[in-house]
Amino acid sequence: MKSFWQGLPKPFFVMAPMADVTDVAFRALVAKCGAPDVFWTEFVSADGLYHTREVLKMPDDENPLMRDLAIGDGQRPIVAQIFSSKPEMVAYATKLVSELGFDGVDLNMGCPDRSIERQGAGAAMIKTPDVARAVIHAAKGASNLPVSVKTRVGYNKETLEEWLPVILEEAPAALTVHLRTRKQLSLVPANWEWMKKVVEIRNRVNPDVLIIGNGDVTSVEQGTRLVAESGCDGAMIGRGMFGNPWVFEGISELRKSHADMEFQGLRKSGVPEGFKKSEHGLSEKLSALIELAYDFEKITPPKNFSILKKHIKAFVTGFSGAADLRAKLMEANSAAELESILAQNT
Ligand SMILES: Cc1cc2nc3c(=O)[nH]c(=O)nc-3n(C[C@H](O)[C@H](O)[C@H](O)COP(=O)(O)O)c2cc1C
Repeated sequence: MKSFWQGLPKPFFVMAPMADVTDVAFRALVAKCGAPDVFWTEFVSADGLYHTREVLKMPDDENPLMRDLAIGDGQRPIVAQIFSSKPEMVAYATKLVSELGFDGVDLNMGCPDRSIERQGAGAAMIKTPDVARAVIHAAKGASNLPVSVKTRVGYNKETLEEWLPVILEEAPAALTVHLRTRKQLSLVPANWEWMKKVVEIRNRVNPDVLIIGNGDVTSVEQGTRLVAESGCDGAMIGRGMFGNPWVFEGISELRKSHADMEFQGLRKSGVPEGFKKSEHGLSEKLSALIELAYDFEKITPPKNFSILKKHIKAFVTGFSGAADLRAKLMEANSAAELESILAQNT
């Protein structure tokens, strides 16, 4: 069955799933500043969804896991990311996110967090290919939603030749490859050289699967070059969104340049000439931070305000006096306090 994945222009640019970052409030800000081609939720435990809803009978509007599956206006298409090593739990959560109106479900097979790996989920899945296959199979059978997978190039070392066919043979709609091993965490630069091998394996094993490259992409311009050089279909941006909710706004300029190049019969490499990255000044960044903080407070059940600290650090940086201002803002416990500290100090 056709899904939104097949309708995406190439190269496409997607938001990375990020726990305590890509919540409904941050997605609203990114949607306003320049939407990606696909939104992603934070990851959500499939086992946790089952336990809270079916065992504890927790009402959905009090359930923090259901909160992480909220969909805001303008946040489409949107994929819900879940994790579990139990096929029946993956089936349960997939059916649920389908009923909630998501456009796709993504299975996490790359998270290095020990608490996730202890459950046999996340990157631990790289060591249990049979479980990985069973989980993809369960997700595909549970609803009509397209199923995608996000993983790494290997566990202790790059094992693409062994690991990728396992996933590709189960025919997900899309596969995101974070170009680092589990062991590398995010401590070394992402190795985009590996992407050529990923694409070669995809072309051989299952050419229908879209390949998304992930790791250290900080602009649409850079992502366009990396995609063109490696032959994958799209790029995923994670930390590049920190303090820069405008990171995807280059997409419209890219599409316009591509349309012009197509028209003139010039499109070859996919990289337009003179493609510019737009800059956003400090006052615009601080306004965006305040807006994010107010939207963050509307999330129910509420999230701890301290979660916003990583955004404060990222937005308030790179100018003289930034460290002092940051230190003051870290004391804020509400959006109103944040706004008033900013008003007194800028
Ligand atoms: C704070 C944080 C939270 C993350 N949460 C998730 C997650 O929930 N699911 C996931 O698949 N990856 C998660 N990741 C990994 C990112 O999606 C991405 O793969 C990684 O940051 C590399 O991409 P980047 O260099 O563009 O940031 C997280 C990363 C960070 C820094």
